[in-house]
Amino acid sequence: MQLSDFINQALKFIERGTVDRKSKFRLPILASYHENTINQRIVIARKFDGNDNSLIIFTDRDSQKFNELQRNESCSLLFWDAGKKMQVYIQGVAEIMDEDSRVLFWKNLSESQKKDYQIEPPPKTNIQTHNDYQFKDTSDRFCCIKIFFKSMDILVLSNNGHQRAIYDFKSQKQDWVTP
Ligand SMILES: Cc1cc2nc3c(=O)[nH]c(=O)nc-3n(C[C@H](O)[C@H](O)[C@H](O)COP(=O)(O)O)c2cc1C
Repeated sequence: MQLSDFINQALKFIERGTVDRKSKFRLPILASYHENTINQRIVIARKFDGNDNSLIIFTDRDSQKFNELQRNESCSLLFWDAGKKMQVYIQGVAEIMDEDSRVLFWKNLSESQKKDYQIEPPPKTNIQTHNDYQFKDTSDRFCCIKIFFKSMDILVLSNNGHQRAIYDFKSQKQDWVTP
């Protein structure tokens, strides 16, 4: 396979993850960094933009990840598809999206999806029992974050020889590297 096809294929799979509920690339791991600690969690890949190579995720403004990304925009996304034996590691920069985009995405959520951003008290508050929380009837904690891709590291495992390539989005430099 040509190097450019290998790279474009990985981006197509990321895009597919935002529209196909069965895609293994729907649920990347998002890592952020705060006070010498790396924190990771699964998020849903919501929208990919091939023009600026970015991925949108939704979260709660009161979550740890929001606070970390607000303080330090550097982050990473890790995708793994066991069927395709493909790992894609993205280093990126997070930007909190504006109010218009936030309102637009909120409108398109179902009532049950909205509840994920309305839990009261806010995430990680100690509670007495497992269900000792309620739902607030507002959208003010819902937030959209756009992660701009800086670099990509693709690894495909194969009995015929593993393949690995790296890509820098700014310089558009692409290279095969040893796996
Ligand atoms: C399958 C799955 C999908 C998830 N999707 C999201 C998501 O899109 N946005 C989000 O903020 N949290 C999502 N979560 C919850 C996070 O993984 C995490 O537990 C939570 O947001 C708290 O993370 P934080 O304390 O690091 O902010 C998801 C969890 C799972 C298991």
